[in-house]
Amino acid sequence: MAIVSFEKVSKDYLTDGQRVHALDDITLEIERGEFVALMGRSGCGKSTLLNLAGAMDFPTSGNVVLDGVTTSALKDAGLTCLRREKVGFIFQSFQLLHTLTVFENVELPLLLAGKPKARDAARERLDWVELDGLGDRYPHQLSGGQMQRVGIARALVQSPAILLADEPTGNLDTITGNVILGLLKRLTRELNTATIMATHSAEAGALADAVVRLRDGKIEEIGRR
Ligand SMILES: Nc1ncnc2c1ncn2[C@@H]1O[C@H](COP(=O)(O)OP(=O)(O)OP(=O)(O)O)[C@@H](O)[C@H]1O
Ligand SMILES: [Mg+2]
Repeated sequence: MAIVSFEKVSKDYLTDGQRVHALDDITLEIERGEFVALMGRSGCGKSTLLNLAGAMDFPTSGNVVLDGVTTSALKDAGLTCLRREKVGFIFQSFQLLHTLTVFENVELPLLLAGKPKARDAARERLDWVELDGLGDRYPHQLSGGQMQRVGIARALVQSPAILLADEPTGNLDTITGNVILGLLKRLTRELNTATIMATHSAEAGALADAVVRLRDGKIEEIGRR
């Protein structure tokens, strides 16, 4: 069974009386273990698709099914719970809290959820991203690539069903970006999660198991290796 599926999904935004068709009739299935690149020019709907996959928002029509749960069957509170349990987010600008240490940044989702053994979990995730030994540093004492590793460790701390990354290498140089892409691909496979990454990077497209190309809110092409 797909870990996340889109069944005839459309998403409209209404702003100042204007309707924008951000996504139009998207049907897509993503399996566990898949590292998927979402590509297409600015405004084609990549971030909107990630938001729907990550239970950040409801589709206007059609269904998004995340690990067996149809998001549109939930209310706002249910959507928030689903998102907290099932989704790890990785951001272009890392979004680390600068007054917290690396350990504390990675632990935070567990502490907010009232889960025990946060330090042990953080230590393990930092080991996965090859940052063991740096837990007591603050973000300003890290390189960009190291900050993104912390972002990945934090995204993985609750063992999410899917990882979503919006331009995860957008603030990194090409070489560092490629290392991060390799890490994401390896972790996706080893942890048997699924990663969907919005990207403009050709390197990311070349490394992915599948490239989903959007154009004006529609799927133009799905290329699977
Ligand atoms: N909250 C919103 N309210 C209104 N319109 C929105 C909103 N979010 C996105 N849109 C519109 O929906 C369309 C798709 O936007 P989206 O952010 O998904 O594109 P994108 O592919 O991620 O672009 P980029 O590569 O620039 O990040 C665009 O026309 C955008 O202006
Ligand atoms: Mg975007």
